[in-house]
Amino acid sequence: MIIGAQWGDEGKGKATDLLGGRVHYVVRYQGGNNAGHTVITPDGQRYALHLIPSGVLTPGCTPVIGNGVVVDPKVLLEEMAGLIERGVDLSTLLISADAHLIMPHHRVLDKVVERYLGKARIGTTGRGIGPAYGDKLARMGIRVADLLDENILRQKLELALREKNQVLVKVYNRKAIDIEEVVAEYSEYAEKLRPHIADTRLLLNQALERGETVLLEGSQGTLLDVDHGTYPFVTSSNPTAGGACSGSGIGPTKLNRIIGILKAYTTRVGSGPFPTELHDEMGEYLRTTGGEVGVTTGRDRRCGWFDAVIARYATRVNGMTDYFLTKLDVLSGLDEVPICVAYDVDGVRHDDMPMTQTELHHATPIYETMPGWKEDITACRGFDELPANAQAYIRRLEELSGARISVIGVGPGREQNVVINDLI
Ligand code: GDP
Ligand code: IMO
Ligand code: MG
Repeated sequence: MIIGAQWGDEGKGKATDLLGGRVHYVVRYQGGNNAGHTVITPDGQRYALHLIPSGVLTPGCTPVIGNGVVVDPKVLLEEMAGLIERGVDLSTLLISADAHLIMPHHRVLDKVVERYLGKARIGTTGRGIGPAYGDKLARMGIRVADLLDENILRQKLELALREKNQVLVKVYNRKAIDIEEVVAEYSEYAEKLRPHIADTRLLLNQALERGETVLLEGSQGTLLDVDHGTYPFVTSSNPTAGGACSGSGIGPTKLNRIIGILKAYTTRVGSGPFPTELHDEMGEYLRTTGGEVGVTTGRDRRCGWFDAVIARYATRVNGMTDYFLTKLDVLSGLDEVPICVAYDVDGVRHDDMPMTQTELHHATPIYETMPGWKEDITACRGFDELPANAQAYIRRLEELSGARISVIGVGPGREQNVVINDLI
């Protein structure tokens, strides 16, 4: 399992792609097209994947969209077409019949609710993620399997729109959505997606019984988890380890490696607390040097130093066995590199995540400063090749995080890694 340890965009796509050649299935288990996973293949091609698992770029690896994902079929078909045009084989793509659909009213509601929240807005990606998961839990969602029976699709849509159209028109002063238009549009998607719809829970468990390897690719990250993240400034699903089981139908006893993806500094997109955020030219330096611009919405990412309180928290919440530390190369050239080791909350030291939202909003970082390194590390492939100060920084992060750092990313390319322990 691959999980973001911070607020997303840690480099999960690259990590998944790296392992793709050695696994039989790569499964997305939560989230939707709010995700943006960048992969750069050895021939230098850059891909931005949103719904389709990053394993798709490795021939022989079967990509699976699990039951825990929310699928916008329009976006999925566009993404598929874009990849097919670039020569990627999508014939083996599997989509869980139980995954929920993002409907037009979810997209409209996501945007309009954010507008109404004003300054209190979450800063969502506007893709309809929250409203779609909301309906799933309220038991009025529409699932991929419902696409296969037009009568059922119409019935479920009628029930949903009976309420949603009232809300759109009477609360938000928007146009009502026409049922027949949506049924016609989604029936067309149904025909195109039909060959890919499957009982993925059964297929994945059968694969495990045959001794095959399944990789679960998380989107977002631990601090964006609806239960364990910085609520309410989170996404509406469970990216954390437990969510991978419910979102794929694979039991917890089957998981043997839980790999956290951890950026050598911290970034966040959207609103919400971020104790180590830098509002000065150093933040700007990290943004520019690290190319920290959102893959999905094109928004600038907020940037700050590494936060060990969060890393320790992610280790515990997910039961991490290994870390993949990404973007260490971005820190090359600095005189010194601060690490946040604890928070000061109104005069009290917190080594662990504060319990309340108010405390986290008041948290200021307590820093420990490590000496930097000037060398270019992008060509390093062995731990011993890294400058001594970079080695010391990695060892300190490992100590503070509480799980071993097994791979270190020294550049965006598939091969730009220092591998200490093999991940499979
Ligand atoms: P994801 O959402 O977790 O898959 O991450 P994103 O793709 O949104 O953002 C991570 C960015 O960092 C992408 O542009 C990657 O190409 C890039 N990246 C990943 N690992 C490394 C690394 O080790 N070094 C550098 N310089 N870039 C990296
Ligand atoms: P990947 O998989 C970073 C953030 C949004 C917003 C909050 C809720 O590329 O790491 P949503 O649209 O999900 O309801 O928005 O979550 N967010 C992400 N931030 N990376 C992502 O995905 C994100 N997906 C959602 O910016 O703050
Ligand atoms: Mg991303």
